[in-house]
Order: sequence, then structure tokens, then C-alpha cells
Amino acid sequence: MIMTTAKPRVFITRLIPDEKLAIASQFCEVDLWAQDEPPPRETLLERVRGIDGLFSLLTDKIDREVMEAAGPGLKVISNCAVGFDNIDVTEATRRGIPVGNTPGVLTDTTADFAFALLMAAARRVVEADGFVRRGWWKTWGLTQLLGQDIAGATLGILGFGRIGKGVAQRALGFRMHILYYDPLCQDDPYAAQIGAHCVDLDTLLREADFISLHVPLYKDTYHLIDEAALRKMKPTAILVNTARGGVVDLEALYQALKEGVIAGAALDVSEPEPIPLEHPLLTLENVVIAPHIASASVATRYRMIQIALDNLMLGLNGEQLKYCVNPQVYEEFG
Ligand code: DGY
Repeated sequence: MIMTTAKPRVFITRLIPDEKLAIASQFCEVDLWAQDEPPPRETLLERVRGIDGLFSLLTDKIDREVMEAAGPGLKVISNCAVGFDNIDVTEATRRGIPVGNTPGVLTDTTADFAFALLMAAARRVVEADGFVRRGWWKTWGLTQLLGQDIAGATLGILGFGRIGKGVAQRALGFRMHILYYDPLCQDDPYAAQIGAHCVDLDTLLREADFISLHVPLYKDTYHLIDEAALRKMKPTAILVNTARGGVVDLEALYQALKEGVIAGAALDVSEPEPIPLEHPLLTLENVVIAPHIASASVATRYRMIQIALDNLMLGLNGEQLKYCVNPQVYEEFG
């Protein structure tokens, strides 16, 4: 009698390229939610039943209820993102489930985009494009669409991890003065190498011409940029957010931009996502807004998917994930 071992069952919550799906299908019985939009909550709860592995995106809320629905066989949650605030990691750890993420491969792509947003807001690129398309360009104007200089300005980086450092590296080419705030790295060797200064949050808010956010979203960073923080910034300051929407209080930002408390903002993320079309922020000219695409280059997205698949396979095989956000599961349960 030929014995066949059943392949592990996995649920992949979004369309992935065919060749990547083919790799996963070799080793797993794949249930794919083959759409660009996330599965509705009920569908997610239904489709995870009895799975061994879950491949999730940052728009899938993976909480206790989902883990409970999946059942005791769930061996790994592999999130195809560097951020993992969509996952209840404490609950996963309690259950001994390793959670994977995709750090490193999106650093440059995200830092490029943060800098692109900074430049777009400083030099009013989107407004200028609209100006031309609406037929308002009548002549070269001495005071037309004046923006702010980037070269030589002070950049405040909030969160000096990989992406924050990537933005600092780009700022060097513009001879910017770099301040950073990060409670976790006071004496950073890279900062010393490039002459970036570690300051407290208030100093950063007060002195920076541009403030770029690179902190993860958790309890302490939720609405870190609120009305009080905005009021500490220069009236000429520009805020750039490629981190997570929840780091900025959007209502406070709207008021600050409307009343000229700060000069502009460039956002890749918002709370909620997508930002509702009727949100008053979208009526303002001094905001540039993108639909959470900072890591969206062809090569980077392929690399993220590959890492997430590698993490998934490792977890299914009971091996340590290459990128694991809760390595303590191996101490407690290994
Ligand atoms: C992430 O990975 O967390 C980004 O927000 C999307 O690439």
C-alpha cells in the first residue's frame, strides 16, 4: 500500500504572482483568496478553519478570533509586510505560533518614496501639475507656486531604524542637517558616522523643517503627532508619514494645515485606510497623499512575497523562521 502524506493546508489572503503560487502549491494545499481586496471578516474566519499556515497582508486583522477559528493546528502566521500591527502578536506568542515579517528588502524602496514625498510637498509638485492641467499657467511668475528649499534644511527623523537611516542617507546628498529621535538608539554608530544628532522629541519638533515618521505603530506611538505636537512645529514645517496612519491624528493634522500651524504634509498612510473621499483633508492643496505605496516597486514586492513564502514554509516544517517578530516562541515552546 502506498502511503501518501497530506500536504499542509495554507490560506493565502490575496492574489500573488503565478510563479510564486506555483512554488507554494508544490509543498502545500493552497487556498487562495484570489482578489486584490482583503477577504471580508466572515470569509477570513471561515477559510482559516483547520489550516496549518496563514499568509497574511497588513490589511488582514489577525486577532484571537482568527487564531481560534484556525484551531490548534495553526503553526505559522507569515505577514507579507515589515509592519505587523495588524496581528495580535501577544496572542500568537501565547499560543506558541511564530509570526514572520519581511524586513530589510523594502528599506531602500520605502526610503526613496519618503524622500519623493518630502520633495513633492516641499516643491508643490502635485499642485503644480494641477495648475498646468487646469490651464492656469499664463506666464512665468516671480511668486508663482513658491516652495521650500530642501538643500541645507533641517530634517527631523522620528524613528531611526532601517528606513529612518535610509532617509538620512538620502538627505546627506542634499546637505541636510539631520536630527533624530529614537528612544531605542541614543548612541547610534551610523548617526555618529553621518553627523546626525540624537535629540529629544520636543527639540526635534521645534527645530526641524521637515519631519519624517518611521516609528512602528503601537500603544505608545498611537497619535504621537497630535495637536500638541503639531503646535510645537515651525509654521513652515512639512510632515511626511510613510510609517502607519495611526501615528498621526488626522483631524488635528487637518486643522493644523488649514490654520497654517504647519505648512504642508505628505502622507502615504492614513487612519483609516483608505481615507474616506469626503475627508476634509482631501480638500486642502497643501497635502500630498498616496495610497500606501512606499514599498511598491516590482522588485521589492517580489522579494517581500518570497520572504513571506520562505517564512511560511519554515514554519510549516517546524523550523525557525528567518524573520520572526516573536522569537520567544522558540524559547518557550521549542
Ligand atoms: C510594510 O511592509 O509594513 C509596509 O507598510 C508596506 O510595505
